[in-house]
Amino acid sequence: MISLTIDDKTIEVPEGTTVLEAARKLDIDIPTLCYDSRLKPYGACRLCIVEIAGFPKPVTSCTTPAAANMVVKTNSDLLYRLRRTTIELLLSDHPNDCMVCIKSGDCTLQELAYLYDIRENRFQGEMRDHNRIDENPFIMREQNKCVMCGLCVRVCDEVEGVGAIGYVNRGFESKICPPFERELNCEFCGQCVSICPTGALSGKMWAGLPRQEGVKLTDSTCTYCGCGCNITLHSHADKVIRVSAKATSHNRGWLCVKGRFGFDFINRGDRLTTPLIRREKGGKLEPATWDEALSLITTKMNGIKEKHGPDALGGLASARCTNEENYLFQKLFRKVIGTNNVDHCARY
Ligand code: FES
Repeated sequence: MISLTIDDKTIEVPEGTTVLEAARKLDIDIPTLCYDSRLKPYGACRLCIVEIAGFPKPVTSCTTPAAANMVVKTNSDLLYRLRRTTIELLLSDHPNDCMVCIKSGDCTLQELAYLYDIRENRFQGEMRDHNRIDENPFIMREQNKCVMCGLCVRVCDEVEGVGAIGYVNRGFESKICPPFERELNCEFCGQCVSICPTGALSGKMWAGLPRQEGVKLTDSTCTYCGCGCNITLHSHADKVIRVSAKATSHNRGWLCVKGRFGFDFINRGDRLTTPLIRREKGGKLEPATWDEALSLITTKMNGIKEKHGPDALGGLASARCTNEENYLFQKLFRKVIGTNNVDHCARY
């Protein structure tokens, strides 16, 4: 363990901890745009700068390892001015169309502009002029809003192992896109969308729907496969309009394309929400109560067992149930019905 002092507070941290991580342990707020604790530090945005005694100039706290007896200052007039200028420079080449931007209310750059009270553009100059790209079904790209933090590139590489996007060109011409500037052709997991701090990447199906205002958040579990990822449903007027995942969830905020974008079935009018029973032979399926449906199933199963024996019955369980439910399901078939004809659809 090493001991260092940050803003007059002393803390002990394991070797290898960065100054930013140590400061966060002390609940000291340092602004960041390109940092995510789930990815390797990158040092692109320069907002996390701090002053360290004995260092000739401010350094990025996200990439500087804490050292024994270090004395760190995270807030000073100089740091405030430098951070403010960095944000101003980012905004000088940004569309600043927060009124109509899908990310408004959920945008780190917008929040920083507010916190640093940036109302004017001191740096007039050329603006980027990229078209909005949305030829795929899920992800919308607005390169004019990109701050080159590289979070999308790193998550695609470090977490997904896909590397579908990367940097092209240099300086003012720099941008992030798939090889040869083609349209995206990846797994569409949307990890890049979830981590983008501005409106540069967004879910195409979110367009035109409420942003943050009045949106209800409900934690839930994804039902697509046996992984059971934690998700958060964003709903408005009794409709689910977006799905996200928290960085603190067991899936660390990551989801697959189905979990993140395949939620429209929830709002479908023809979705089955109650059991249906065909009361007469050849008749129509009619809504029934769960008690009625379960007692019908019990009667039919008992009838088959009495007539043909327990092995005439079989059960197929679902990966969408919990482990506990599947455990009870096989118990029901093995112990109550008396057959080993029981299987489960989870194969991966
Ligand atoms: S968070 Fe450290 S440079 Fe961006």
